[in-house]
Amino acid sequence: MKNKLLVLNMKMYMEPNDIKEFMAKTDKVDDNIIICPETIYIPYFINKYKNIGIQNIYFESRGAYTGCNSVLHAKKLGVNYAIVGHSECREYFNITDQIVNKQIKSIVDNNMIPIMCIGESLDDKVSSNSKKVIKKQIIDGLKGIKCDRIIIAYEPVYAIGTGNTLSKFDIIDSVNYIKEILNDIGINALLLYGGSVNSTNLSDLLTISALDGFMVGKSSCSSVEVLKMMKLLSSN
Ligand code: PGA
Repeated sequence: MKNKLLVLNMKMYMEPNDIKEFMAKTDKVDDNIIICPETIYIPYFINKYKNIGIQNIYFESRGAYTGCNSVLHAKKLGVNYAIVGHSECREYFNITDQIVNKQIKSIVDNNMIPIMCIGESLDDKVSSNSKKVIKKQIIDGLKGIKCDRIIIAYEPVYAIGTGNTLSKFDIIDSVNYIKEILNDIGINALLLYGGSVNSTNLSDLLTISALDGFMVGKSSCSSVEVLKMMKLLSSN
């Protein structure tokens, strides 16, 4: 069986020296690892590792958009994946499902692979709206999208950075629901789980056969953690 994917979402945690150290200690990573460093560090990573993703992109290819990152230019640099719709972007940069949709179109047009993040907030969960929210994110985010290579990361907001992963039962329930919706709209996607995944809880999460992999935030910044997780994936 093919190894499950591991997306390393390094966010904005690492200083230049941390990057140097990380790269020195992870000389070779397996083909199922997708590294998404902070954008300014991408040129360091691009020549050393096979699969590089960008953490956020603007949907226009070029132009007078100060401070933005172009999908086209990322692609030309050798970046093959782009994360969109992360809950932190939805919250801090007002990224809506409509913007996510434009981003995905642009990523697909540029022959890159979108990694679309979805997931309910604690309020959604408490008010029993989780499924409604997830469904809207998928339907609106993927409206009119035709592509055969897309990754969806299910990351409940209350599991991100909290040290609390969901129970396996809850993950399976949501993942099955996501699969149903994707099936209805004719999209074939790889499905990841994210939210406080680390080398300690990964063994247990690996037993969820419905998942194609994991998205890791904080723990992706530690080479020790990454090497341990890589080993778990390859021996699964
Ligand atoms: P975390 O972040 O692993 O630090 O919880 C996951 C994510 O936001 O992708």
